[in-house]
Amino acid sequence: MHVLLAYASLSGNTREVARIVAARLGAHGHAVRCVDVDGAQAVEVGQQLDVLLLGCWTDNAGRTPTEMKQFVAALRDGPGLPPPPRVAVFGTGETQWGQEYYCGAAHRLARFFGSPHPVLEIEQMPHGDADTRSIHQWVDQVSAAIEILPPC
Ligand SMILES: Cc1cc2nc3c(=O)[nH]c(=O)nc-3n(C[C@H](O)[C@H](O)[C@H](O)COP(=O)(O)O)c2cc1C
Repeated sequence: MHVLLAYASLSGNTREVARIVAARLGAHGHAVRCVDVDGAQAVEVGQQLDVLLLGCWTDNAGRTPTEMKQFVAALRDGPGLPPPPRVAVFGTGETQWGQEYYCGAAHRLARFFGSPHPVLEIEQMPHGDADTRSIHQWVDQVSAAIEILPPC
């Protein structure tokens, strides 16, 4: 599958999760293009993708950061949004903002796209075996689900 992995990261936490996700997807044999939405041309990178993976940090009180909103809007107005089974979302956040807002942007994005996949939540920078295992398990689950979809 051709996977576009588009992430928004202010201070590097989500970028690091994206790096681990991309490596694991590659190990499953997927062709992964990993882009930072800040500066990415959605019209160009959004062409000919089978699956869209979004990674996002969360802004104030569970909000989606502006750069990710702009990327999604440009995708919608350009190449178009992929159907729900072809979209999966992960995010980083901090529980100190309150459980209802924790990784709120990732959950908002998953709801917006109607993604049937679980949302992966990582607290701040991924560290240690437990986070790596969570990321790998999530990728393995998403990979198994998308492998049965016909290529676009
Ligand atoms: C202004 C501001 C508001 C934040 N609000 C939330 C929030 O509502 N919920 C949450 O889970 N994390 C919140 N965070 C924490 C970040 O989402 C978290 O540190 C994330 O891992 C940053 O990812 P990045 O390093 O990829 O930018 C906030 C951080 C900042 C700077």
